[in-house]
Amino acid sequence: MDSGDVIGVRTRFEDDRVRAAADAGITQIVLPAAGMDTRAWRLGLPARCTVFELDRPALLELKAGLLGTAAPVPVPRRVPVPVDLTADWPADLRAAGFDPGRPACWVVEGLVQYLPEPAVHELLDAVTALSAPGSHLIIDVVGAGLLASARARPILDAMTAAGSPWLFGTDDPGALLTARGWDCEVHLLGAVAVALGREAGSVARDDGRDDDRGYLVHATR
Ligand SMILES: C[S@@+](CC[C@H](N)C(=O)[O-])C[C@H]1O[C@@H](n2cnc3c(N)ncnc32)[C@H](O)[C@@H]1O
Repeated sequence: MDSGDVIGVRTRFEDDRVRAAADAGITQIVLPAAGMDTRAWRLGLPARCTVFELDRPALLELKAGLLGTAAPVPVPRRVPVPVDLTADWPADLRAAGFDPGRPACWVVEGLVQYLPEPAVHELLDAVTALSAPGSHLIIDVVGAGLLASARARPILDAMTAAGSPWLFGTDDPGALLTARGWDCEVHLLGAVAVALGREAGSVARDDGRDDDRGYLVHATR
């Protein structure tokens, strides 16, 4: 699988779970580090839902410019929330209308590999503190071995050269969440790819090698 397929598989995994959470009655969908995410338009979410898109102010301004006036207004309410995820972003999220007394569905997609480990723990602490019973947290995590993998060296070097080095990986992603009181399903990304009918390539390998794994996690509490 090339990196495009990896992103496609993780997106589909996360999309399916967001839709299921919304169908089950969750109305707050929160996307920390939303980037150019288009789930507010793509997923056909009910009008009762609000999609909170958190990212840096400059990114959200760029996105607004690209969307321009041509993009249709999404059916769920879409609320861009300019934040620095290393500062007091929970206050900004609450000020934007998020209610920590009601369950939420969080999608932490394509983010934690870019953070130093202490920042990953702070982020998960903050998400957990804002998650009422009944909440969902969907997150993708790269394996620790991948960060030192010769096979991954080209992409790791390219990310470093682009100013976005990959810093965090773990082969026990469930522990990050069970320690915070979440129940977890942890899936090997390659196994999800196979289940979706994609050619898995080496990321599906579960033969004891740990140099190229990625994980998709769905946690509930
Ligand atoms: C690789 S992109 C992932 C975007 C999207 N979740 C996806 O998977 O397509 C990482 C995003 O994290 C955002 N980001 C990184 N550090 C951040 C910070 N400290 N505060 C807010 N956003 C941050 C970047 O602006 C970028 O949009």
